Amino acid sequence: MAGINNAEFCKKHKASLLILGGFNADKGAMEAGKKVIERGRKEFIFEDPLDGIERELKSIYGRKFAVNIRSSTLDGYLEVARLVENYNGILEINAHCRQPEFIAKRCGEWLLFNLEDLIRIVRAVSKIVLTAVKIRGSHKLDYYSICKKLFENGCKIVHLDAMIPNGGCELELIRRISNLGFLIGNNSFIDKSSGEKIIFSGAKMASAARAVLKDEIFFEKMLQSRILSQPVFLE
Ligand SMILES: Cc1cc2nc3c(=O)[nH]c(=O)nc-3n(C[C@H](O)[C@H](O)[C@H](O)COP(=O)(O)O)c2cc1C
Repeated sequence: MAGINNAEFCKKHKASLLILGGFNADKGAMEAGKKVIERGRKEFIFEDPLDGIERELKSIYGRKFAVNIRSSTLDGYLEVARLVENYNGILEINAHCRQPEFIAKRCGEWLLFNLEDLIRIVRAVSKIVLTAVKIRGSHKLDYYSICKKLFENGCKIVHLDAMIPNGGCELELIRRISNLGFLIGNNSFIDKSSGEKIIFSGAKMASAARAVLKDEIFFEKMLQSRILSQPVFLE
């Protein structure tokens, strides 16, 4: 969660994988972030993006983590990829954010609709660091073939926000994409039952955002479930 999920916030939680960010890796993405703040949304703004991100990585070191990144250039992703690799983390390419300021800078969901560009980034980044891609469901897109291409080109984890526009999680989409590779299923994981449904649908992990804002010990409670506390291995 941009403006919220820094190392300080994430470290308080018992989740097995902490996903920091979204962070903005280059000038273009940072400009978009500043505009988004002007209309009242939260964002992380670092004077020097790489310095700021490295401070966060130093602070989270020792826990399993990923860093959700937006960039308007391939170079932005590559620079962060080298950094994240040094700290043994996962780089999550943000192909999910739908704020118009980011779309205008070819960041976030723009990449989901411009698959060639996304694949070019995935190919380059995955040569450096373990790479995840965060995407959003609910569009009229062929998610199966998009995710197949992602996995074929070096992506090791798809993080799928399987949102249903009026609320809820599209478990059927999680089921289909899980056949292709390692999937983190996301949306409306609010209690043990909704999390377990995501796992029963084939996801290797279930991620939560909004529920954590409402309950500081959300993950601690969820880990009492046998299904949600199983060890996870990424081959
Ligand atoms: C305040 C807020 C900020 C968010 N920022 C990001 C972000 O920077 N990058 C991202 O990939 N998703 C972001 N998301 C989306 C969440 O990670 C998640 O995909 C979405 O909220 C659905 O999951 P949930 O039902 O568990 O909240 C944000 C969500 C919220 C509520």
